[in-house]
Amino acid sequence: MPALDAFPRKVWNRIAGHRLRTGEPLAMAYPDPAGYGPLRERIATYLGLSRGVACLPEQVFVTAGYRATLELVLRSLATPDDVFWFEDPGYLQAQLFLRNAGAKLAPVPVDGHGLMVEEGVRRAPDARFALVTPSHQSPLGVTLSLERRMALLEWAGKAGSWIIEDDYDSEFRYQGRPLPALKSLDRADRVIYCGTFSKVMFPGLRLSYVVVPLGAVQRFHAVCASLNAGCPYLFQAGVADFIAQGHFSRHLKRMRLLYAERRAVFVRALEQVFGNRLQIELQPGGLHIVAGLAAHEDDVLMAERARAAGFGIKSLSSWYLDNEPQRGLLLGFANVADAAMAKRLALKLKKAMEG
Ligand SMILES: Cc1ncc(COP(=O)(O)O)c(C=O)c1O
Repeated sequence: MPALDAFPRKVWNRIAGHRLRTGEPLAMAYPDPAGYGPLRERIATYLGLSRGVACLPEQVFVTAGYRATLELVLRSLATPDDVFWFEDPGYLQAQLFLRNAGAKLAPVPVDGHGLMVEEGVRRAPDARFALVTPSHQSPLGVTLSLERRMALLEWAGKAGSWIIEDDYDSEFRYQGRPLPALKSLDRADRVIYCGTFSKVMFPGLRLSYVVVPLGAVQRFHAVCASLNAGCPYLFQAGVADFIAQGHFSRHLKRMRLLYAERRAVFVRALEQVFGNRLQIELQPGGLHIVAGLAAHEDDVLMAERARAAGFGIKSLSSWYLDNEPQRGLLLGFANVADAAMAKRLALKLKKAMEG
C-alpha cells in the first residue's frame, strides 16, 4: 500500500472533478478496450524517459490491475499446456491467479542476485513463460543481476519463450537512481512489460498497463475487445491529466524522500522493540520490509495474529512453492507517519505476536 495520507488529494479531486464537470460526450460512451489514447501516449513517453523502455503508444494496453494484465496476456498468448517459470518465493496473488487459470508452474529459486536463471533452464528448459520481478523481487526485494538479465533474455530468445516483467514498484529506490527495466535490454522483443498505478498513485484506481511486443499487438486487440469493454474513461483521463500537468513526477519525487524517511523511522522502532528477534536486511527499494524470524518461529501464526489485531502483514514462508521456506514477516512501512506512530505500532505488533 502506498502512503494514502501523502497523496495530493486536492489536486486529484480538482483534475477528476474538471473531467466530470466538462461532461464530454466521450465520457459517456463505451471506452476504447485498449485504453484511453492520450493515457497510452503518456505512459509510452513516461516509460521511455524513466524506465528505458522504447515503445509506441499502440503497444500500450491499459488494464484494471496486474491480474487483469495477466489474464489478457494468457488469453492472448498462452495455450493450456504451457509451463510458467515462477519465482520461488514469488508474488502470492500472481501464483493464486495462475493456479486458478490452470497454468503449470515451474518454481525457480531466488537468491541474492534474483531469479536463478540457470536453475530455471535446468528444470524447465521448454517453459513458454517466465514471470519475473527484476527491479525489486517480490517478496525478497533483491535486484536481478545484469548477468542473469542477459542469461534470461538469451534463454527466451532461443526457446521462443515470453518473459513477463512485473515492474510494480521500481520507482521507489532509495540508493542511486531506479535501474532501467529488463525490457530496455530486450532486442528480440520477448519481454512483456507490466506496470501499475497502484503504488505510484493509489490502488483504488484499478489502473495498470502492459507493453506488448509489436508483433502481438493485433492479437491483444482482438482479445481485449472480446474480454471486457475497457477501463472507465474518467479515471484514465484523470491520470493522463495528472501526468501531463507535472503532478505525477512531482509526486514520485516527494514520495521517494518520504518513503526513505518512513522506512528508516519504522526500522528503528522495530529494532528498539524487537531487538534481534527480527532480522532486517534493507534492500535498495520497495514499499515493504522483509523481517526475518528464526527457523523455530511460526511466521504463519504470527502473521495471522497480527492480522487479527488489524495489521496487513503477510508471512514470508507462505510465498514459497518448493524451495525450503525462510520464516519472516512482510511489513509495509509507507503509512507509518512518524516516530511516535512507529513505536506504537511496533509495540502493538509485539503484543499481537505473543497471542
Ligand atoms: C509483485 C506485485 N506485482 C504487481 C502488483 C500490482 O497489482 P495491481 O496492479 O493489481 O494493484 C503488486 C501490488 O501489490 C505486487 O506486489
